[in-house]
Amino acid sequence: MCGIFAYLNYLTPKTRREVLEYLVTGLKRLEYRGYDSAGVAVDSDDGKGITLVKQTGKVKILEDAIKEFMTGHDIDTPISTHCGISHTRWATHGVPSDLNSHPQRSDEENSFVVVHNGIITNYKDVKKFLEKRGYRFESETDTEIIAKLVHHLYLQHPNYSFRELVEQVIQQMEGAFALAFKSKHFPGECVATRRGSPLLVGIKTKTRLATDHIPILYGKDSATDPEHRPHGAGREVPMIPRTESTSEFQPLEDKEVEYFFASDASAVIEHTNRVIYLEDDDVAAVKDGALSIHRLKKSLDDKHAREIITLKMEIQEIMKGSYEYFMQKEIFEQPESVINTMRGRVNLVNNTVTLGGIKEYIPEIKRCRRLMLIGCGTSYHSAVATRQLLEELTELPVMVELASDFLDRNTPIFRDDVCFFISQSGETADTLMALRYCKQRGALIVGITNTVGSSICRESHCGVHINAGPEIGVASTKAYTSQFISLVMFGLVMSEDRISLQTRRQEILEGLKNLDSQIKEVLKLDLQVLEIAKDLFQQKSLLIMGRGYNFATCMEGALKVKELTYMHCEGIMAGELKHGPLALVDDMMPIVMIVMRDCVYNKTINAIQQVKARGGQPIVICEENDKETMQFAHKVLEVPKTVDCLQGVLTVIPMQLLSYHIAVLRGCNVDCPRNLAKSVTVE
Ligand code: F6R
Repeated sequence: MCGIFAYLNYLTPKTRREVLEYLVTGLKRLEYRGYDSAGVAVDSDDGKGITLVKQTGKVKILEDAIKEFMTGHDIDTPISTHCGISHTRWATHGVPSDLNSHPQRSDEENSFVVVHNGIITNYKDVKKFLEKRGYRFESETDTEIIAKLVHHLYLQHPNYSFRELVEQVIQQMEGAFALAFKSKHFPGECVATRRGSPLLVGIKTKTRLATDHIPILYGKDSATDPEHRPHGAGREVPMIPRTESTSEFQPLEDKEVEYFFASDASAVIEHTNRVIYLEDDDVAAVKDGALSIHRLKKSLDDKHAREIITLKMEIQEIMKGSYEYFMQKEIFEQPESVINTMRGRVNLVNNTVTLGGIKEYIPEIKRCRRLMLIGCGTSYHSAVATRQLLEELTELPVMVELASDFLDRNTPIFRDDVCFFISQSGETADTLMALRYCKQRGALIVGITNTVGSSICRESHCGVHINAGPEIGVASTKAYTSQFISLVMFGLVMSEDRISLQTRRQEILEGLKNLDSQIKEVLKLDLQVLEIAKDLFQQKSLLIMGRGYNFATCMEGALKVKELTYMHCEGIMAGELKHGPLALVDDMMPIVMIVMRDCVYNKTINAIQQVKARGGQPIVICEENDKETMQFAHKVLEVPKTVDCLQGVLTVIPMQLLSYHIAVLRGCNVDCPRNLAKSVTVE
């Protein structure tokens, strides 16, 4: 949901051409987070002001505009210290337009410019406050108030440092944000901060840093009075005690250093693997090449320092390689990604499963009243897919919840509940808020995420990294199968000492062992799926039916088709057919049915017969060589047989491929579907 990328070089001369190239490449890596407009801010030709280039549309359009800007400007003189900020947007306030794109500015002089992810909920009050003081707004964004407020404060307090001004600004902000600021009054400096939206700092130095920790500097007095926010009566913005500015961290003796601020690691990994994940309300400032991290208030669980961690991500993981789209690459990566999810955890020799991140909590989990699995979209579907197995292996009640609905209902939560929060990004606002809701009520919080250092990771008591590797395509594919397997592994851990379940555990472990080679078999259906896609791509609607362990595949398949192809598509529980959806069926309605030889086989065959009786011509996904089932099919996709509870990992892949091919045939942008963004950090 919007991407921030900022770059600061200190005593490492770079031309503005190089800086602009860094910024554009950074934005390209983040484009999956939002892609309706983009912009950059760099120093002006004379180095005394700020130049903005902003464009509606994808980063490529911005890149072309920057190339145009480059002709006629001196952009090849090396500058020893420079700060550039950039942004790719997913519109929330105001349509995608050049004016609404970021960086937003304080005034016509571009005195202060800012890029923002998230939503400022009290922006109308702050806007009113600023309008009364003569500020005129040019955009429809909530972000513009931030640029104007920092300018207003600067005029009132010209002796304040850049970082202090930003600290004052964020005290007035309600909502969620990650911000990066640049100012012509503070050349060569960058200030960045976050609350509820991810932000990290990458550090690149010639030699290894002397420390792995950046100490936090706190405000002298932590008291702030929320009453004093500008939405009160047009009072002046109250000044909050300034934080210590002494003993800032000096990264190196020779101090040559480059900093990268980004919404996620994929944008910095080609420059450095040394990063700090900022926490909510951290204000990170770079001045004279030194990075310091400040907080106005000390909180109980503060760690007093931020650790510089070394990312394990490889650059190839975020490149498309020979694939047309990231989504296609990620579908085809699944034989490896499922292995990575199990690596070091599933021991097929002695039939044990170890989940290091939750090991210590297993006794507590075993004593719980119920398990709750909470997520959004695809992550929610992974919960639906594994619920039945978890009920069987844990013998506990398992509830699956959509995070948004869960919050709407004010669902009762108890201290002896164990709540799982499933999220690829680890940043989804609804899921994160549901997490906080459950944590406040004393439940044990387990995070199931793909993103190390994400908010859900950090705010969980314990968790499982699904280790699927970076997922860049907006449509989630490999994260789904890895979430699925992580939850299955959890079930296996919980049932390790249940004698009555040993045979069942054994067959599941056998199934896990063969999963990667079976996924490879399913991927060989690609051309067959393409042929089916050619039949379907001009249709208006598609129904996907199944039940039991494969109902989740229907919902997940339908979500993929909707989001990628903009075609209406519904996942239908086959047991519900007679209760309404059967009315949709005729010889024209495209239907996919998933018919596996599990405990609901006979019931699913009933459903297929009902469909056939109304002239329906189902495309059937069934087990290899299941001739009996194939006789009902208009077209067939055969997948290898595995244990019933893992079959959904194999049946979802033809649906991923189908949505992919239909999208390509319809001319849709597979990696960046309209109106969507990868990480939904707003409610
Ligand atoms: C669909 C898709 C979304 C996400 C949902 C939750 O392909 O990607 O439905 O699954 O927005 O995102 P995470 O898993 O990051 O919490």
